[in-house]
Amino acid sequence: MKTGSFLKKSARALWGLFRRHGKAFVAGFACALLAFLLIGAMLGPTSKNEFCGALCHEMGVSYRTWELSTHGANKYGFRVDCIDCHLPPKEYFFSHLAAKSYEGAKDGYYHFFGGEYDVEKVRERVREHISNSRCEHCHDSLLVKPGSSSARKAHLAALSAPDEPENRCVECHEDAGHQRHEKLFSP
Ligand code: HEC
Ligand code: HEC
Ligand code: HEC
Repeated sequence: MKTGSFLKKSARALWGLFRRHGKAFVAGFACALLAFLLIGAMLGPTSKNEFCGALCHEMGVSYRTWELSTHGANKYGFRVDCIDCHLPPKEYFFSHLAAKSYEGAKDGYYHFFGGEYDVEKVRERVREHISNSRCEHCHDSLLVKPGSSSARKAHLAALSAPDEPENRCVECHEDAGHQRHEKLFSP
C-alpha cells in the first residue's frame, strides 16, 4: 500500500468520525436547548401565584391569607410571590427547579392520594423549611433601617447565629406571608 493512499484513507476515516460525532454533538445540543426552552416556558405559568394558590382547594385559605399579608399587598404595590418564600431563589436555577419539581409532585400526590389535609402539620413543615436566607434575599439591610431597639437586638442575633431555632425569621414573623389574625381567617 502506498503511503499516500493510507494517509488519504485515514483522513477520510477521521473526517467520518468527526462528522458522526459532530452530528451527535449538535443533536445533543439541540435537545438540551429544547429542554431548556420547554422548562423555561413551563416555569413561567406554573410559578404564578394563582397557579400555586388557587389550583387546588387545599391552598384556598393560604392564598387569601397571603393576599391580606404585607407581602401580598403593601403600600409599594409590590407583591412578593409564593415562590419567593417557598422555594430557593430563581437565580439558583437548578436548586430552584429541583425544589419546584419536588414540591409540585408532592403536592399533586397528596392532593389525589393524601387523604385529609392536615394544615397544622404542613405549617410546621413549612416553617422548618423556610431558612433565613430566603428572607434576607430581600431584607438585606435589617440593621441599617432605624427600628426599635428590641428589633435591632433580635436581628443582630438572627444575623450572627441564624441556625438557632429562636433566631429564625419565621419564628418571630410567623404571619409574614399569611395574615391570619383577620376575623374571617382566624385559624
Ligand atoms: C413572605 C413569605 C411568604 C409568602 C410570599 C408566601 N408564604 Fe406561604 N408560608 C410562609 C410561612 C412563613 C409559612 C409557615 C408559617 C405559618 O403559616 O404560620 C407559610 C405557610 C404556607 C402553607 C402551609 C399551610 C398554611 O396555610 O399555613 C401553605 C400551603 C402556603 N404557605 C402556601 C403559599 C401560597 C400558595 C402562597 C402564594 C399565594 C404563599 N404561601 C406565599 C411564608 C410565605
Ligand atoms: C421578594 C422579596 C421579599 C422576600 C423574599 C421577603 N420579603 Fe418581607 N417584605 C418585602 C417587601 C417589599 C415588604 C413591604 C415593604 C416594607 O415594609 O419594607 C416586606 C415587608 C416585611 C415585613 C414588615 C411587615 C410590616 O407589617 O411592616 C416583615 C416583618 C417581613 N417583610 C418579613 C419577612 C420574612 C420573615 C420573610 C421570609 C419568610 C420575608 N419577609 C421575605 C419583600 C420581601
Ligand atoms: C427574636 C425575634 C425576631 C427574629 C428572630 C427576627 N425578627 Fe424581625 N422583628 C422583630 C421585632 C420585635 C421587630 C419590630 C416590631 C415589628 O415591626 O414587628 C421586627 C421587625 C422586622 C421588620 C420590619 C422593619 C424593621 O426593620 O424594623 C422586618 C422587615 C423584619 N423584622 C425582618 C426580619 C428578618 C428577615 C428576620 C430573619 C433574618 C427577622 N426579622 C428575624 C423580631 C424578630
